[in-house]
Amino acid sequence: MGIVTSQRVGTEMIDLATDYVGLKLKNPLVPSASPLSRDLDMARRLEDAGAAAIVMYSLFEEDVRAEDAMTERFLLNSALGHAEADGFAPDQGEFKGLAERYLGQLTKLKHHLEIPVVASLNGVSAAGWLEFGREMEAAGADALELNVYHIAADMAESGDAVEQRYFDLLTALRGTVKLPIVMKLSPAFSALPHFVKRLESAGAQGVALFNRFYQPDIKLSDPLTMSNRIHLSTPDETLLRLRWLAILHGRVNLTLAATGGVHGYEDAVKMLLAGADVVHMASCLLQHGPGRLNEILAGLSHWMEEREYESVTQLKGSMSQRNLARPDAVCRANYVGMIDRYEAPAGVWR
Ligand SMILES: Cc1cc2nc3c(=O)[nH]c(=O)nc-3n(C[C@H](O)[C@H](O)[C@H](O)COP(=O)(O)O)c2cc1C
Repeated sequence: MGIVTSQRVGTEMIDLATDYVGLKLKNPLVPSASPLSRDLDMARRLEDAGAAAIVMYSLFEEDVRAEDAMTERFLLNSALGHAEADGFAPDQGEFKGLAERYLGQLTKLKHHLEIPVVASLNGVSAAGWLEFGREMEAAGADALELNVYHIAADMAESGDAVEQRYFDLLTALRGTVKLPIVMKLSPAFSALPHFVKRLESAGAQGVALFNRFYQPDIKLSDPLTMSNRIHLSTPDETLLRLRWLAILHGRVNLTLAATGGVHGYEDAVKMLLAGADVVHMASCLLQHGPGRLNEILAGLSHWMEEREYESVTQLKGSMSQRNLARPDAVCRANYVGMIDRYEAPAGVWR
């Protein structure tokens, strides 16, 4: 199937272009961070299927530190070992660490792809975020996504303190790199619009809504154990995103990236209608392969053509809170009435 980047409507072309952190993208579909970007051939297939940019898997600072510590231990043990075995000691110069391998993959993707490549960083220490952010910029990343995977489990840490973590990281990085910075957020902020506005003031060019934190489960085995398994998303997960995109659209200037639950073109259309500038996908591509991206692009174009939309710009935010006749529809409109009027769908007991 050919790549769809624009579509003829009557005598007009549908313009699928969108803005993402100051980069002009040919369409709004962008694979989000996932193992797919570990493989150059897969990244090429995603580009061929129409991906407008690609976000790389994250570099996890804790993995880098753990690997460094392991290597150091190994080299120390080798140095203390038998003199006759010294010849077998690895040449430190030849060993490529995790960070170096990540930067190597970034350089490779930049070299072989035409689309923008976004690096993703999950740091632990302030110094780590800065060091790796600088290196990713030097390696040619077009933007930097900060995957701040913080579970606020500390009784002594307030909501303000959690928000402050994000500002401290952003402010430090903002002073270090010139790259556009996207903050990938969890949905667990008590006053999201206020927080996003503050991130914008602190220099973020985009937010990605929302990170999916993997939920630990209890395995009813003997003995009982915790199981940590990644579940791929389902389209139901778009609903959480739709509300907040609709609320934020038109009230902030930074890029709104939707991530979570997009499996078909209808999901992508809804994210754009709510106010997303770009629509990310991971689970559906892992599940169905890169061809799914092209199907979604074709479905989006076809839907726009049928509804006589001329551009993604025109479509974006059409159903955002500011454009709704009843803005309360994305807040608590009819909450009580809805509960009162609940009727069980077919096949549901009551
Ligand atoms: C197997 C897998 C690996 C992922 N790795 C990363 C990662 O390295 N960094 C990150 O920020 N997000 C990562 N994600 C999250 C995705 O980028 C995405 O935000 C999330 O899965 C929601 O989108 P989806 O419903 O399209 O999957 C990963 C997701 C999956 C399923």
